[in-house]
Amino acid sequence: MAFAQLALQSIEFSHPGMTMPLFTELTVQFPFGWTGIVGPNGAGKTTLLKVVTGELEAHGGTVNRQGQALYVAQRTNDPPEQFEDFIWAPDATVLKARLRVVEDWPERWDTLSHGERKRAQIAVALWREPAVLALDEPTNHIDADARRLLRRALQEFGGIGLLVSHDRALLDELCSQCVLLDPPSAVLRPGGVTAALAQLDNEETSARSANDALRRTETRLQAEAQRRRVVADQKAAGMRGSKQIKIPVHDHDGRAKRNLAKVSGKDAYAGKMVAQMNQQVGKVAKQRAGIEVKKRYETGIWVDGASFMPRDFLLRLPAGSLPLGGDGRQLHFPDLVLGGTSRIALTGTNGLGKSTLI
Ligand SMILES: Nc1ncnc2c1ncn2[C@@H]1O[C@H](COP(=O)(O)OP(=O)(O)OP(=O)(O)O)[C@@H](O)[C@H]1O
Ligand SMILES: [Mg+2]
Repeated sequence: MAFAQLALQSIEFSHPGMTMPLFTELTVQFPFGWTGIVGPNGAGKTTLLKVVTGELEAHGGTVNRQGQALYVAQRTNDPPEQFEDFIWAPDATVLKARLRVVEDWPERWDTLSHGERKRAQIAVALWREPAVLALDEPTNHIDADARRLLRRALQEFGGIGLLVSHDRALLDELCSQCVLLDPPSAVLRPGGVTAALAQLDNEETSARSANDALRRTETRLQAEAQRRRVVADQKAAGMRGSKQIKIPVHDHDGRAKRNLAKVSGKDAYAGKMVAQMNQQVGKVAKQRAGIEVKKRYETGIWVDGASFMPRDFLLRLPAGSLPLGGDGRQLHFPDLVLGGTSRIALTGTNGLGKSTLI
């Protein structure tokens, strides 16, 4: 394997039409072994893999990369490049066995299940021995068996690996560090994703409680400032009232003048207090703005105004069987009833006929 090195220096990138850059000033070094790339949907994980492997060009900064880089997409629509070569290569025997790739697969790619295609795709990628291997969601939609085979094969990889995955266990098992993406920021944390996210959670929790405390203080200060403004206004009105009281010509003991001075003095004092309170409010607001409280990402799907189907059932299918492929295999199913509020899990290993049934 060629000497590998991978470093990003001040990378800038945005897709056409984006109002905010996806990455700015992104500087990361990737060591040998696997680095997890973690972030919510749309955070730029796939984009990062493509920038790193040269499929996309950064708009600023530099990608220092030596040796061959391979990007392995999540989708498995097309057979991998060099699939035939791999099948007949003498040095592919171990990988073929390890990932259980069968020799007739290139001819019948169209009939392979996703899990089988994924195993083939990754086997070929590993066989090509790239210096940098970037895998996009390799374990999505594959069963436990295939996942185990993949994990073992990936553990053997000796180059620099980037792994985008929502499979926490896989990230924990393979990765020695994680890049957490949250545009436009990206942070590198040591350890598997569980450790990295726990650290992030802690920081977020303390930021959130500091923010809450400051918000309560801000509200209190605002109320106090308002109260003092009212007092100051009352004082000012009172003073205007006193001013109108004519100071008697014979203010022998200067009492009226003293009273006036007292009132205007109080007014100035109240005004100063209001200004002070406002200053405090401003300070707290500024402190609060300095605390970054990340928004929580919701998962799941909401449809506005949606309601459940009022009917008793949407579908009734009496027990029967379905042919699976051309080799005479059959899928036998029991009576099926689908109600308006049904939530149905359809489970089974890859290639068992789940998609066919649907
Ligand atoms: N060619 C493109 N043109 C314009 N916008 C794009 C393009 N490709 C991706 N984007 C946008 O860039 C953002 C990041 O996309 P990307 O596919 O890198 O996210 P991701 O982290 O891989 O998400 P997911 O977890 O859903 O796979 C998204 O908002 C996406 O819509
Ligand atoms: Mg993606």
